[in-house]
Amino acid sequence: MTTIVIYATKKGSSEIYAREFANSRHYPILEQAQVTSKELITARNIYYFGSVYAGKVLGLEEWKKKIDDKKEMTIVSVGLSSKNDQEKLAEIQKGISEDFPEAATVHLRGRLVKEQMKLPEKLIVKMISMASKKKIEQEKFDIEKAIEQVVDVSCVDFIDLAELDRII
Ligand SMILES: Cc1cc2nc3c(=O)[nH]c(=O)nc-3n(C[C@H](O)[C@H](O)[C@H](O)COP(=O)(O)O)c2cc1C
Repeated sequence: MTTIVIYATKKGSSEIYAREFANSRHYPILEQAQVTSKELITARNIYYFGSVYAGKVLGLEEWKKKIDDKKEMTIVSVGLSSKNDQEKLAEIQKGISEDFPEAATVHLRGRLVKEQMKLPEKLIVKMISMASKKKIEQEKFDIEKAIEQVVDVSCVDFIDLAELDRII
């Protein structure tokens, strides 16, 4: 059975996790957007690392069109939500289940750097931060605290490669 690692990223966090995972387990690695259906014929086991934007894992809908149902998928979402953000994680999980109901899932925390963001993203992040600042501390999701930090001090980085051990 062939195993491959796929990643979909905008700013690199998912790629960092995917490369470390692929290197440590000696699996080939490919970027989602560049991989063709032909290259996937022999793959049975797929680890898909995708960044989360607006609750959705990047590229997953496109990916669904490229592969058949016989593949075993593990989907690793990478975002700023933490394990405490159950509501946010449930939203991510729901999106994954719509396309891949059978897939195993793992969530890892990524990073966000103000300078890497495009203007529309900066505006969204600013709006989230402003809304979050109006909440009392106990009501804030960890993702909101992280986004406040990005706006105030320009970056957050929760990448922890040791967390890759959670992936079976
Ligand atoms: C506009 C925007 C929307 C985001 N939405 C989410 C989200 O819904 N859930 C989440 O956990 N993280 C969210 N994030 C944080 C990213 O998932 C996080 O920065 C991730 O590490 C980015 O991955 P990448 O570097 O591979 O692109 C968002 C970030 C931006 C800029």
